[in-house]
Amino acid sequence: MNNFTFCTPTKVIFGKDIEKQIGETIKGYGASRVLIHYGGGSVKKTGLFDKVVNSLESAGLTYVELGGVEPNPKLSFIHKGIELCKKENIDFILAVGGGSVADSSKAIGVGLATGNDPWQYASTGTCPEPNEVFPVGVVLTLAAAGSEMSNSDVITNDTITPWVKQGITSETVRPLVAFMNPENTFTVSKFQTGCGIVDIMMHTMERYFLGVGDCDLTERLAEGLLIAVRDAGRVAIANPEDYEARATLMWASSLSHNDLTGCGKPRYFPVHKLEHPISALHDNISHGAGLSVLFPAWAEFVMKYDTMKFAQLANRLWGVEMNFDHPEKTAKDGIKAMRAYFKEIGMPITMSELGLKPEDYEDIINLTTKNGTAKIKSYIDLGKEEIREIYKLAE
Ligand code: NZQ
Ligand code: ZN
Repeated sequence: MNNFTFCTPTKVIFGKDIEKQIGETIKGYGASRVLIHYGGGSVKKTGLFDKVVNSLESAGLTYVELGGVEPNPKLSFIHKGIELCKKENIDFILAVGGGSVADSSKAIGVGLATGNDPWQYASTGTCPEPNEVFPVGVVLTLAAAGSEMSNSDVITNDTITPWVKQGITSETVRPLVAFMNPENTFTVSKFQTGCGIVDIMMHTMERYFLGVGDCDLTERLAEGLLIAVRDAGRVAIANPEDYEARATLMWASSLSHNDLTGCGKPRYFPVHKLEHPISALHDNISHGAGLSVLFPAWAEFVMKYDTMKFAQLANRLWGVEMNFDHPEKTAKDGIKAMRAYFKEIGMPITMSELGLKPEDYEDIINLTTKNGTAKIKSYIDLGKEEIREIYKLAE
């Protein structure tokens, strides 16, 4: 087990009717004038927006609204948010939505706290100073990205060509508080529910592999989460209003990406680094859909470097019988079972299902590898050649 620091201070207020607590809770964090930040309008259709406003007004808070965050949130819109907050003297940002809205809010907060363009941090891998924090809260409507408790903030720079999607990783971007009512996810479409299930699984699986030494407790926690998500995922797809299933997915979204399932493990996230350039260049591709295609292909490509770990997950998560003489067969069957599960919940498993043709690959590979000058850290470094191989396994 590697040395680690575990600090995940976001306060979580979870369950039915918790919207009533929003106003008083954020007032406790010093909020007086709030930016309510949201996406393309689902929160207005569902009535959640009105509940949030009522709660703020009951606590005596004033607000300004900025809707219109697109999936894969864009830097130009974040700039707009920063200017609006300055003009309106906003002292608290409340994200009402999924990961894109949370990330847009977090990036606006970075701009306000530092006085710098948030892209400066995303593009260089540098962090704001520890005291450069702007208060952000999240009213979550989609169980997926885990941004409501994570130290990541993924944004797309649409002011350059080609667009680049990159994350800020910093303790300063963890939200102060997350309000999570599973009922607010009942209206999420089957496709977005599937994307969420995949993303939640991936945040834990990316941490599960690439470790060194014994990390049994962390791995058992990871497997428990994955099993619960596997089962709840099936139920939520079949019955979108199943409260318990939605609650499991919602809580798993946070726990999968707040570092709990990675304690003592390194954090490389190679498949996320393969996916982000895809959804940067092809804005219509959802993050979770890109992952469901790439992860099994990556697993096939690297499983020979850690066969027993892949076989272990195949056995414990997918119920594949362990073949001690030929663990590579167990590992392979596990990857097959993963693909079957993704298919079952309606997710794509091939590049062509994403709408990508072989002639699209080179642009993505060039963006991923900075024109061949950078490699992704994995069991072996992934450069242009290796990425081409992985794409082939996903055809
Ligand atoms: O915009 P609205 O109208 O709200 O519709 C959204 C959007 O079209 C819809 N939706 C959300 N809640 C709904 C709903 N529709 C009906 N009912 C509801 N209750 O779902 C669509 C997708 O929303 P989005 O926020 O884009 O999805 P998700 O939560 O999956 O977030 C994806 C973004 O998060 C990033 C991804 O790369 C992507 O940009 N990630 C952020 C991470 C982080 N900050 O820690 C980690 C992840 O690995 C990921 O990279
Ligand atoms: Zn993700």
